[in-house]
Amino acid sequence: MDVFQIAGPVKLSGHVDVNGSKNAALPIMAAALLAPGRSSLLQVPQLADISVCKELIDQLGCRVERLEDGTLTIDATRIDNPVGPYEIVRKMRASICILGPLLARCGRVEVSMPGGCAIGDRPINLHLIGLQQLGAQIHLKNGYVIAEAPQGLTGASIFLGGPFGSTVLGTANVLMAAVLAKGRTIIESAACEPEIADLANCLNTMGARISGIGSPRLTVEGVSRLHPVQYRVIPDRIEAGTFMAAAAATRGELHIGNCRLEDMMAVVDKLRGMGVKVEPNGDGCTVIGGPRVEPADITTQPYPGFPTDLQAQFMAALALAEGNSVVVEKIFPDRFLHVAELNRMAANLRKEGPAVIIAGVKKLIAAPVMASDLRASAALVIAGLAAEGVTTVNRVYHIDRGYERIEERLNRAGAKITREEGGTV
Ligand code: EPZ
Repeated sequence: MDVFQIAGPVKLSGHVDVNGSKNAALPIMAAALLAPGRSSLLQVPQLADISVCKELIDQLGCRVERLEDGTLTIDATRIDNPVGPYEIVRKMRASICILGPLLARCGRVEVSMPGGCAIGDRPINLHLIGLQQLGAQIHLKNGYVIAEAPQGLTGASIFLGGPFGSTVLGTANVLMAAVLAKGRTIIESAACEPEIADLANCLNTMGARISGIGSPRLTVEGVSRLHPVQYRVIPDRIEAGTFMAAAAATRGELHIGNCRLEDMMAVVDKLRGMGVKVEPNGDGCTVIGGPRVEPADITTQPYPGFPTDLQAQFMAALALAEGNSVVVEKIFPDRFLHVAELNRMAANLRKEGPAVIIAGVKKLIAAPVMASDLRASAALVIAGLAAEGVTTVNRVYHIDRGYERIEERLNRAGAKITREEGGTV
């Protein structure tokens, strides 16, 4: 297992480009299953999670290829085997988003129930309730969800809100099923994340009839078939926010290319409250860390609120603030595995239920730390950039799931990160 050796402290300075969004690409790859024929997806990042999704779609009987120019093609002419096996789903819970499209296309689908993960419980009850309201018969057997709709699906009015608000992949699944259902579907309390808007725009490009895109109420007029598509996924706002937090923590200056600030207003608002300048610049922005990090309070919420996927990274920056901050995690209350690791680096964080009290410290001290999930790992990298000494981040495969060669891009902006084989298992 690879490790990162991160020498600090550094001040980041220079240019980084943001890749295509992992969390847009994954449901859009699943959407390609709705249309017989060959779809081409542009700006799909080269990530471990995308490779798992490719493996998942390949074994359905489709052909997924990565062309020289990075385009990902999916030929969904035939689907021989509408099953998502445990061996693959356990590697990536987002595999669940083949449920809706395969049910709509094939009338029957089996997908292994996704397990929990480092950030807590990951139920799919809302996905199943939504599909049942479209007329699917659903039962669980040997850890698999079996969904059937031999007579096809019928549009319905569906409330998809849960105890933590909307569900991103739940909205994706129900939306991808509804586009081929007979009649009208209304999805109330739909996720408004830009990745869901991107999915809906892609589906409309394929011939679907979705309105209310980007709002909590999606209206779908079912159609009888969709056609293959050429589609470019949006840039990754979470990757962009990760670079912004790194610039804040190192009090550096980064030009971030291929970044849509309009998708990140809550994040930019928080950065400015932390004393960080954010200015639009070309196809992205320039982020200039202040002479010191100002403390800030963060509560994660469904979009357009502050994203839970940036909670850990901003905690790493706030660990160095001159004053106290409070971070409240409202989406995944257990998403705090990075707290103990940051405290090993001399941060002063105290967990109080779904909140963490951050007493800013003057400096972080390098230490060997353990990555636990995708975004917590990114937080440890950010802390390592700002800490005094050489930080060893173990289990770097977590980072590779969501960030393409992050060490190379950060090193081009002044970081000193080396990737080494080995490290603590
Ligand atoms: C997506 O996960 C993202 N993953 C996550 O990003 C992100 O953290 C999350 O949305 C929230 O924004 C992808 O898009 C691939 P949810 P998803 O369903 O859809 C509860 C990353 O780092 N819930 O929106 O699985 C759930 O427990 C990943 O890139 C139910 O109760 O998340 C949670 O508390 C991590 N029942 C809340 O809703 C359900 O049926 C939001 O979960 C579904 C969800």
